[in-house]
Amino acid sequence: MTVIAVAGKGGTGKTLVSALLINFISEHTTSVLAVDADPDSNLPEALGVEKQVRKTLGEIRELFQVSRDEMGSMNKEQWLEGKIYAEAICECPRYDLLVMGRPEGEGCYCFANSLLRGVLKRLMRHYEYIIIDTEAGLEHFSRKTIDSADYIIIVTDMSRKGLATAKRIKELASELKLNFKKIFLIANRIASEDAEKTIREFAKEEGLELLAVLPYDSSVAEIDLRGEPVSKIDKNSEVYRKMKDVANLMLNLSAKAR
Ligand SMILES: Nc1ncnc2c1ncn2[C@@H]1O[C@H](COP(=O)(O)OP(=O)(O)OP(=O)(O)O)[C@@H](O)[C@H]1O
Ligand SMILES: [Mg+2]
Repeated sequence: MTVIAVAGKGGTGKTLVSALLINFISEHTTSVLAVDADPDSNLPEALGVEKQVRKTLGEIRELFQVSRDEMGSMNKEQWLEGKIYAEAICECPRYDLLVMGRPEGEGCYCFANSLLRGVLKRLMRHYEYIIIDTEAGLEHFSRKTIDSADYIIIVTDMSRKGLATAKRIKELASELKLNFKKIFLIANRIASEDAEKTIREFAKEEGLELLAVLPYDSSVAEIDLRGEPVSKIDKNSEVYRKMKDVANLMLNLSAKAR
């Protein structure tokens, strides 16, 4: 099992990177779980499978809250696991997809959450690759919800905030002793040689391995605007080719780690 979490500031290209990685990696193995961990979910649209999404994990948790008392002596963990398989995991042709949905509402969800964590950990072990499109910012790191990731890919643009978030994720990982095998950086929408140079210097200073520098590509933005999936991206474009190299590198890395 190799867990890759894609993180970074809002709007930097996390969903684009996640969706392309899911597409490329699932060409090599069908044992892929795609996880949309952003409450403002849009990974299914980027993958073009939004019609196949069923219940979110948040909705399953709500169901659990209301029916918990009626379950009596029934094993609650098994109930949750069964519900997730039967009603939340969407079986797309080449991968499975799990949408986390919104955070919990009012009331105490501690019991449901701790059960869910255990169920998710077990469920993840059934897959060779788990690719997580995370929520923007630092929340997932400070709450340690992705502490079991092997690789973090931080996506940044050329904004000061994008770089600050990348830096903070690296610092948090070490403060919280999150044992990721490696934290990578992808610079996205880089429009000039100067910007690329600045990014390379930043990556070097922060000890982040720069996986790719992706240019601004208006056709990528237009595809998104039309609500089309990333599979429509031109196969000869730099964004497509560079992301394919990134996916191959991740495949090689995890093969070596096995
Ligand atoms: N290299 C690129 N060239 C042009 N447009 C891009 C590029 N990368 C991403 N975009 C566009 O930028 C917008 C944000 O990208 P995306 O949704 O992948 O970011 P995100 O980090 O997932 O955002 P959020 O934090 O809102 O989830 C989208 O409209 C996307 O099509
Ligand atoms: Mg996104």
